[in-house]
Amino acid sequence: MLVLGVETSCDDTAAAVWDDGTVRANVVSSQDELHEEYGGVVPEVASRDHQRLVVPVVQRALEDAAVDAAALDAVAVTHGPGLPGSLLVGLSFAKAFAQGLDVPLVGVNHLEGHVYSVDLDPPAPDRPFLCLIVSGGHTELVRVGSDFQHDVLGRTRDDAAGEAFDKVAQLFGLGYPGGPAIDRRAARGAPTFQDFPRSRLDDFDFSFSGLKTSVLYYLRDRSDAERERLLAEHLDDLCASVQAAVVDVLVDAVRHAVGETDAEQVAVVGGVAANSSLRRRMEAVGDDTGIDVSVPDLAYCMDNAAMIAQAGAQRLAAGHASPPTLDVESNLQL
Ligand code: KG4
Ligand code: ZN
Repeated sequence: MLVLGVETSCDDTAAAVWDDGTVRANVVSSQDELHEEYGGVVPEVASRDHQRLVVPVVQRALEDAAVDAAALDAVAVTHGPGLPGSLLVGLSFAKAFAQGLDVPLVGVNHLEGHVYSVDLDPPAPDRPFLCLIVSGGHTELVRVGSDFQHDVLGRTRDDAAGEAFDKVAQLFGLGYPGGPAIDRRAARGAPTFQDFPRSRLDDFDFSFSGLKTSVLYYLRDRSDAERERLLAEHLDDLCASVQAAVVDVLVDAVRHAVGETDAEQVAVVGGVAANSSLRRRMEAVGDDTGIDVSVPDLAYCMDNAAMIAQAGAQRLAAGHASPPTLDVESNLQL
């Protein structure tokens, strides 16, 4: 089955061609530079840019895959959660495209797409497995069963892990998105330089807003000269300290959940799963505990349409095609 995946939930315009489990093309056009001067995604700017990019990005994917649109069997598209104006561009395009080709349309939950990204990079975990979804908008610990049963064990009560990286990076003057910049600098810094808070909540819920506030106060409570010196001489150390705080919390939660649920397989997905320290530490969890740990290839951690096509194809196989009245759901949950 040949499936076109389309993803426009935030600031990346993405299209992919999926061919029975093989990704034949995976095109992502990032708007990072557009949003950098604002320190985050500006919804109006994002939706306009999706409108400009969606057709050329889909064309590029079809060309890369050497596939004629007429050969497609289905179109899978993200219909939530995300920015309403951004989702609407992808969904409107996908509806019209599917209708023009007279093929089924399937709406995909963006978070389910991230979960299914583990199947793109074999060996895919058997169900059930424990999945940590960590992105710019979400931090959720989920037990993934078969037949699209997702049991949410916990989620963030305030900021997402990626949001914490992005907000702290802004305080450090590192631009947007902040995760990759912090990751690169942290590799050269000392994680013990400053002890930033690691919030541990009773259940499997997360909280990262305290970390951002703590960094804010750490910088604010110093003289201008001292702050400048710290940022000039110890930025790598500060990045390493922040990264250690976020990664400690995530790894602890996974270890705890493994103990509580007898999970035999764990996956970490989403943009923050690209973090080099988190990847290393999760590998170590696998080595210590003997459980299988899957972390997708970097290209499938960040927002992409291959994961949307993968999840959509599974849904179609289970008879879950969407009606032409499918609408965006900006607050869609798992
Ligand atoms: O999954 P994603 O591409 O988009 C959302 O669905 O939100 O995740 C984007 C998030 C951003 O917050 C970005 O800073 C973070 O993932 N991120 C990272 C790294 N690469 C991306 N965070 C930490 N380390 C990285 N290497
Ligand atoms: Zn995402």
